[in-house]
Amino acid sequence: MKIRINEHFGDIKESYLFSDIAKRVNAYSEANPGKKIIRLGIGDVTLPLTPAVIAAMHRAVDEMASADTFRGYAPEYGYDFLREAIADYYARLGVNLRAGEIFVSDGAKSDIGNFVDILGNNDILIPDPVYPVYVDSNLMSGRRITYLEANAGNGFLPMPDGLPEKPYVIYLCSPNNPTGAVYSAAQLGEWVAFALQTGSLILFDSAYESYISGDYPHSVYAVEGARSCVVEFCSLSKTAGFTGTRCGWTVLPEELEAGGVKLGRLWARRQATKFNGVPYVVQRAAEAAVSAQGHAEAMEHVRYYMENARILADFLREKGIWFTGGENSPYLWLRCPGKMGSWEFFDYLLQNVQIVGTPGEGFGKCGEGYFRLTAFGRREATEEAVARLRNLL
Ligand code: MLT
Repeated sequence: MKIRINEHFGDIKESYLFSDIAKRVNAYSEANPGKKIIRLGIGDVTLPLTPAVIAAMHRAVDEMASADTFRGYAPEYGYDFLREAIADYYARLGVNLRAGEIFVSDGAKSDIGNFVDILGNNDILIPDPVYPVYVDSNLMSGRRITYLEANAGNGFLPMPDGLPEKPYVIYLCSPNNPTGAVYSAAQLGEWVAFALQTGSLILFDSAYESYISGDYPHSVYAVEGARSCVVEFCSLSKTAGFTGTRCGWTVLPEELEAGGVKLGRLWARRQATKFNGVPYVVQRAAEAAVSAQGHAEAMEHVRYYMENARILADFLREKGIWFTGGENSPYLWLRCPGKMGSWEFFDYLLQNVQIVGTPGEGFGKCGEGYFRLTAFGRREATEEAVARLRNLL
């Protein structure tokens, strides 16, 4: 063919991080069919949907079976019942949002990846290490990225001090994937002040907010001024076990505007053109998940995963392996023992004890020498992993 392709795909790695890991694990598994692999790599949940969610889905399925209650195309930005239920959820967190400021979607990953569509050619600020979608989606669109170094010295929470005073699009994730670090209200306040001062936009990923147990903001809108400079992305994947069910949302407060144009209007226009909405059955499931009852049930699962995190953390302490996370986050971020490189440690664990984790380097240059373990496994698998690691490390 003689067409031109998007040459910026040449700027990203050959495979997406988690596809790359899956390929390596599948190859190992084919070559070693008798070995039982324990997967603590990708942050995929293992507990089923909760009773309130399942009941809501069953009811919605029955509605789809009758001509009187059947639903076709959903409203592009989500049914009002769900937008209102999400606004209620925020109200319970002490944050007031209008239902119309909430745009329902099939998850935070797609929304964060798609958001570049409505932005021009800005300077992009992204912490390193970081969830790879922020970087890849910007590189694919040919954007310039400045990396903000996150390291043990700054508690993996880079701050704006010393940055040139100019407008950026800034990506923040708290609790952080992969490091598990959490910004305090005061730290987020500094980021918001920087954004307001420089005319920057913050894209805030709060997908792990329900893992917070300490005194940290669950939503960036708890911070004064955030409504004028922050878009928040959230998801039910990790909160309510929706990794396969798919539902999340993006919040664009009315105050967000650039050059006299409301960002909410642009996002609505983008979604109306390129997105067909979330299935009715899933939106009813999501409504149940964010209800008081559904959320209480989901929190039992969160506590289960956080007990796994405690088991992993105790083991790392016992071995004197430096780590962070695992307290307000389902991820533990550890320094590879014996000065091993991230991929070296990945291979070492896979070959010797058949445990899959995520090499820190996959999250950026500053992740080299680190390794991420997830607490999303089943209890038996987590305990078995610790037993195997105890013999190896
Ligand atoms: C992860 O393991 O980092 C996440 O599961 C990826 C995702 O949420 O897309």
